[in-house]
Amino acid sequence: MDYSWVDYEKAVDVIRSRTALQPTVGLVLGSGLGGLVDTLNDRVVISYEAIPGWPQSTVHGHSGNLVIGNLEGKVVVAQQGRAHFYEGYNLQQVTFPIRVMHLLGVKAVVLTNAAGGVNTAYRVGDLMLLNDHINFVGMTGSNPLMGPNDERFGPRFLGMVHTYDKAMRETAKQVAAEAGIRLHEGAYVCLSGPNFETPAEIRMLRVLGGDAVGMSTVHEVLVARHMGMRVMACSGITNEGIDSPDVEMETNHQEVLDAGKILVPRLTTVLKGVLRAL
Ligand code: HPA
Repeated sequence: MDYSWVDYEKAVDVIRSRTALQPTVGLVLGSGLGGLVDTLNDRVVISYEAIPGWPQSTVHGHSGNLVIGNLEGKVVVAQQGRAHFYEGYNLQQVTFPIRVMHLLGVKAVVLTNAAGGVNTAYRVGDLMLLNDHINFVGMTGSNPLMGPNDERFGPRFLGMVHTYDKAMRETAKQVAAEAGIRLHEGAYVCLSGPNFETPAEIRMLRVLGGDAVGMSTVHEVLVARHMGMRVMACSGITNEGIDSPDVEMETNHQEVLDAGKILVPRLTTVLKGVLRAL
């Protein structure tokens, strides 16, 4: 399904009918990270089911609520869980919420995800700010900006050199350093999933310059940048990529959710600092 401007506006109308709060910051919470919404004050919770056109998240660990509230003096609209390409949604559906956030008046988004460590220095519980990415899903011919371009949103062709907001990253690094949180900066590799990587794939991604790997975020980044939003994205490292078939371990979704519990307070600290500085 391709959406038109009217479809986005219908979603905006439903959200506006539920709260007078006018969000300026968007937040997307990945696998196991939804608990971060508990830090929002005076919050209004809207189930994704109540919003026309909104893709439902079918994955365990993704709650399926849009939560609007105050945090550090900013009105934030938070997606508690997201829809993924591997669930069978097309990329216009996956990125529908970002377009809606833009029409709600959101100027900056903070996207989070659970990711596997590709860089051998990364440990479970570390954070990685994206300063770049490799979009394998895009390279194989699936990109949310494909199809007719609506100039009201943004340009046909999009430059990608300055994708990840420098000032927001600098603040995040400063806050993490002060709080003693291990925060790296690196390139996120986006694969479709839903299977995790083979050991040979992990070794390949390392050679290609990837630092962390996951199944989301980049599509939302493209759409947010298309509309000129400021973008910060942060991975929570939930597991280390396994680069040999001769080990006992196997990558699994439960470890991703378990690591989320360590990551939520760390991400909360960083996020609050970034919001204060916006
Ligand atoms: N690979 C891909 N996606 C992920 C991983 C991983 O190891 N961990 C969490 N999301």
